[in-house]
Amino acid sequence: MKGKRILMTGAAGVIGSDLRRWLVEQGATLRSSDIRPFGQLGDQEEIVIGDLCDAGFASRLCEGVDAIVHMAGRAKEGQWTDLAGPNIMAATHLWDAAHTHGVERIVYGSSNHVVGFYRPEEKISNDDPQRPDSRYAITKAFGEHLASVYAYKFGVKAFCIRIGSYRPEPISRRELSTWISPRDLAALVEIGLNADYVFETVFGISANKRAWCDNARAHELGYQPRDDAETFAARFGENREEAGKLENQFQGGGSAAKEFLADPALIPGR
Ligand SMILES: NC(=O)c1ccc[n+]([C@@H]2O[C@H](COP(=O)([O-])OP(=O)(O)OC[C@H]3O[C@@H](n4cnc5c(N)ncnc54)[C@H](O)[C@@H]3O)[C@@H](O)[C@H]2O)c1
Repeated sequence: MKGKRILMTGAAGVIGSDLRRWLVEQGATLRSSDIRPFGQLGDQEEIVIGDLCDAGFASRLCEGVDAIVHMAGRAKEGQWTDLAGPNIMAATHLWDAAHTHGVERIVYGSSNHVVGFYRPEEKISNDDPQRPDSRYAITKAFGEHLASVYAYKFGVKAFCIRIGSYRPEPISRRELSTWISPRDLAALVEIGLNADYVFETVFGISANKRAWCDNARAHELGYQPRDDAETFAARFGENREEAGKLENQFQGGGSAAKEFLADPALIPGR
């Protein structure tokens, strides 16, 4: 990590704030950026404020950078008018700029909602087709496709992390399956910044006993998660009545169930 010039987008956000502190501790030379202002951590960090929906800004941001950790965007469901700019146009500007400026690789904050319409009893792998559960999830699925074309066609390597539920501790039963601790996400980002690959999609979850996915590819690349949400399981009792609820029928939970009007049985199994 030492000496690597890394651009961190979404640096004022929940994940970005933690990751840039960790990257500075690792000795990276950091350019941190967000649309909203935030405080500088030290001499190793340059702060650049601006909107990634502005292609010229995205281009200036990528000058002289070796790698990008892309966490900027709208992190929740919304209307297309809310999502198209920060999650689609901003991503196209960033990947174009990375290509133009010869950036070697991008670590991308994707989401488990890209596969949110699989069922909890289906153990999915990164080879399973995307099955997005919302407009937000479609923008993340788009990001993964963008990343793959720019990797395979233009040589901008990409490591897409389908982040589950990022926080210090899980806060619901569902998160016993989807949780990722800050140190485990940092470990995945480290692999994304250093491992030998062209294009990868991995699951951003800790070593959860109740995981709904097989994260074998991440493990092959060296991921050794240190946390397991099961440690917190006693906080969330078994509630049989909850099991039949629509939101519990899909890996995507409430996001998958939101605005749902059709028959869930029509969604094919794996
Ligand atoms: N937190 C989670 O559990 C989780 C789970 C799955 C995926 N993700 C993804 O990881 C990434 C980071 O998540 P987070 O929880 O830190 O979100 P966050 O909302 O806290 O941070 C996102 C940051 O992006 C910035 N941003 C938005 N639009 C921008 C633009 N046009 N130009 C520049 N900056 C812009 C925001 O100001 C914000 O600081 C997001 O892309 C999110 O979709 C997060």
